[in-house]
Amino acid sequence: MDTQLLKPTKEAINLAVKLIKQGEVVGVPTETVYGLAGDSSNPQAIKKIFEAKGRPMDNPLICHISNMKMLKMVAKSVPEDAKKLAEAFWPGPLTIILPRGKGVCAQSCAGLDSVGVRIPSNKIAREIIEKSNTPFSAPSANISGLPSPTNAQSVYQDMQGKIPLIIDGGECDAGVESTVVSVLGDSPVILRPGIITKEDMEKVLNKEVQIARGVSQEIKVDEKVLSPGMKYKHYSPKAEVTILDGDIDKFIEYVKNNYTPNTFALCFIEELPLMPIPAISYGSIKDDKSQAHYLFNSLRKLDDLNAKKVYARCPKKTGVGLAVYNRLIRASGFKIIKL
Ligand code: TXA
Ligand code: MG
Repeated sequence: MDTQLLKPTKEAINLAVKLIKQGEVVGVPTETVYGLAGDSSNPQAIKKIFEAKGRPMDNPLICHISNMKMLKMVAKSVPEDAKKLAEAFWPGPLTIILPRGKGVCAQSCAGLDSVGVRIPSNKIAREIIEKSNTPFSAPSANISGLPSPTNAQSVYQDMQGKIPLIIDGGECDAGVESTVVSVLGDSPVILRPGIITKEDMEKVLNKEVQIARGVSQEIKVDEKVLSPGMKYKHYSPKAEVTILDGDIDKFIEYVKNNYTPNTFALCFIEELPLMPIPAISYGSIKDDKSQAHYLFNSLRKLDDLNAKKVYARCPKKTGVGLAVYNRLIRASGFKIIKL
């Protein structure tokens, strides 16, 4: 199959709409990462998404809608907390887990009776949903296990020959996937951290928001999880990544002493001049949003540089930093050395 990579002209968007309505899968930009979009109500389209990614069949997809009217199609009911969160954060990078409604096929939710829903703030994504008049399900547009794509070229790298079209909407704003929050239990629980933080949601809900254990800890093989995505190794470049948790002086000493050819440091931009070994950066030490923005792209760059080993600086574990930490510990397969 030929894969077209097109700028978001009117013609290209109409083509995306046509393909989605025909049950095909299209690479689309969102404000978080690029997604692989297919009609949420069409089991054949959903099957193609899982195949293109090589995604485990038990890992459900997020359903994307463009307005609150569509919410009634995809969710059976909307608890009070969900209404408040939607009002505060939609359109935007927040996915809310709700009871699954008729407009989403069971295959899209891996057979679960719940569904993750969000209204993306990216205008191209919303226009495609509006014009096709159906919600689309979309996982991140990477091959399963690789870093999520934050630009169209990265989607092309992974999906060339597997899908007919990628819409190039430029670089994604956030750079990490949406926050996933469940409102199905007694109190809201974050299943995946993102740009919208625990504190952001607590302010709106006026109550505590929990963080699921799997967010910052490794899940045991037989452990019951609230979100299937927590179980899987994720975001890994080919290189072996180790997080070094400690101050910059100890980091410099460690990488100097453990250097072998094709080893790289993954540090903050301010620290590049201090590095005693080849290094690339992922954002500013003072700005966790910039770390989120650059992390996946930096992990992909390390592959392009043929890195074999990577020693990464540890982000902070609060605010948006928690989203960065959550991705980096998975990229490292939970290899963390306390310095
Ligand atoms: O920002 C994003 O969310 C991007 C863009 C494309 O919207 N999408 C994305 O999808 O990151 P994906 O498939 O890579 O991650 C979806 C995560 C998985 O960890 C999955 O297990 C969880 O959401 N999830 C989806 N539906 C769920 C459900 N019903 N219950 C629990 N977890 C769910
Ligand atoms: Mg993903």
